[in-house]
Amino acid sequence: MCGIVGYVGKNQAKDILMTGLEKLEYRGYDSAGVAVCESGSINISKVKGRISDLREYCANSLLGGSIGIGHTRWATHGEPSKVNSHPHFNKEKSIAVVHNGIIENYETLIRNLTEKGYEFISQTDTEVIPHLIDYYYKGDLLDAVINATKKLEGSFAFCVICIHQPDRIIAVRKDSPLIIGVGNRENFIASDIPAVLDKTRNVYFVNDMEFAVVKKDGVKIYDEEKNTVEHKLHTVAFDAQSAEKGGYEHFMLKEIHEQARAVKDTVCGRIKSDMTVIFDKLTKKHLEGINQISIVACGTAYHAGVVGKYVIEKLARISACVELASEFKYRNPIIDDKTLVIVISQSGETADTLAALRLAKEKGSKVLAITNVVGSTVSREADFVFYTYAGPEIAVASTKAYTSQLVAMYIFALFLADEKNIISKNELDAIKNELLNISDKIEKTLENLDNIKILAEKICIQNDVYYLGRGLDYAVSMEGSLKLKEISYIHSESYAGGELKHGPIALIEEGTVVVAVSTNKDLASKMDSNIKEVKARGAYVLGVVPEDFKDFSGSFDDVLYIPTANEILYPILSVIPLQLLAYYVAVEKNCDVDKPRNLAKSVTVE
Ligand code: M6R
Repeated sequence: MCGIVGYVGKNQAKDILMTGLEKLEYRGYDSAGVAVCESGSINISKVKGRISDLREYCANSLLGGSIGIGHTRWATHGEPSKVNSHPHFNKEKSIAVVHNGIIENYETLIRNLTEKGYEFISQTDTEVIPHLIDYYYKGDLLDAVINATKKLEGSFAFCVICIHQPDRIIAVRKDSPLIIGVGNRENFIASDIPAVLDKTRNVYFVNDMEFAVVKKDGVKIYDEEKNTVEHKLHTVAFDAQSAEKGGYEHFMLKEIHEQARAVKDTVCGRIKSDMTVIFDKLTKKHLEGINQISIVACGTAYHAGVVGKYVIEKLARISACVELASEFKYRNPIIDDKTLVIVISQSGETADTLAALRLAKEKGSKVLAITNVVGSTVSREADFVFYTYAGPEIAVASTKAYTSQLVAMYIFALFLADEKNIISKNELDAIKNELLNISDKIEKTLENLDNIKILAEKICIQNDVYYLGRGLDYAVSMEGSLKLKEISYIHSESYAGGELKHGPIALIEEGTVVVAVSTNKDLASKMDSNIKEVKARGAYVLGVVPEDFKDFSGSFDDVLYIPTANEILYPILSVIPLQLLAYYVAVEKNCDVDKPRNLAKSVTVE
């Protein structure tokens, strides 16, 4: 999982490539490199470390030339090191390649190429690509890349430059993201839009097994038979600044504060003023005969799916299950053409989610994708797409994408619930109304959490933190727990309140921190019993409750209040204090909040 960039144009390539790579560091950041072609040779600079290290390393190097490629890496095959970092060369150093993804059959290819006299110097799967292109090169780089690509198995997007055709970059993708940015006498290639946004908003989305020939004055895209393929030029709605930190110390904090806007944009136009709900191109007719819903996702998106299951069943009384994509794809799930499979993925590129989507289609199910990335693989392969409009999410820890996914789940449940007469029209309209205006309450939640930094100071010295909740609050607790562990490295788990006495209570001792989310009036007394149980064993309990729950908050040691709202919508609000708590604990511990260790934003390998 890596970020790749390419540039060809009227300017020096080196700095443009580095600036692009900086925007892609969320995809991986253990090593980086650039290759620039000039006067019949390709010069490569690479380092183990981040783009800032690469910049420093290149500061005094010549590395001139107006065509080049670059890479930021998250190691899969071979440890992070200079030799394993990209770009990779063929033996004559006439061809250089940057690659994102995994070449699954690389060992077989290395064996075959070795028999033909090729030598390998790295432990990467990537190195087979320049050698294979070299093997097929007979004077036309595109032909060589097409022939080489036909031999590759796995998921990949890569860019190639060659000293023999120094006016072009060839780029190809299969199951990994790739876009082309179109400028004025300069063109760009990248794994993601933010990398080109300070240069252009006009982009092409390249499809699987399409080959882009990118030159200074034009872009041509071909299929594997070398037929030209016409693509629509898209104009990206968000600008370069929205992909920057915008004054916040970290992207995560900025993105937490962007949630009101993200949620508003996602609701907008989907719930009409007359309270009709539309789910983009999906109509009720498409859902005729559907008797079960299976939600599949990973990580935070899975947690949004857990909320989705609750609300779909509650509002529409359709059986819904939710499953981790990595489990789903290996257990031969019982789904068919009467199942609607909903895949949720912020990036739209998560390998496990994509595999689940493909399995669902193989089994004849209709697939609805909920994703944040227009043109992502998931969006292109699903039967129906619903975009969340969270905008680019740069921090590895997902926040605004999660709340936007929640909104998507609510809109879908409301869409199903209409005409079902399970919940009265008045009640449904009340939920819709509140959802239309929930961004005001998000703002209010954010304004009222001044004391959270002080609480974070208490919690940052802990080794373990437990989260408790029931029903929807349990779903939110899972997300709160994931946020804390992934950015602060504090061990944390979430439990359904009722499960406490079945084992986890054995972990509670003097000073153990328990975060209890309690927003459901019917379950509040049960939660209160759970809180008393852990307090009796010495736990410190921090509550997250609505403002009108003051009567129930006596048992907490500290409380974070959220605005009173329609009960079913509380997850959108109650997750915010949990996100902020995780954030401030991580800051207090001096952790790398936006790029937590061992993680990458988009998990495009299994
Ligand atoms: O792009 P996706 O939504 O498919 O990503 C799924 C997970 O990898 C992602 O939500 C991950 O769990 C986040 N880092 C959590 O903050």
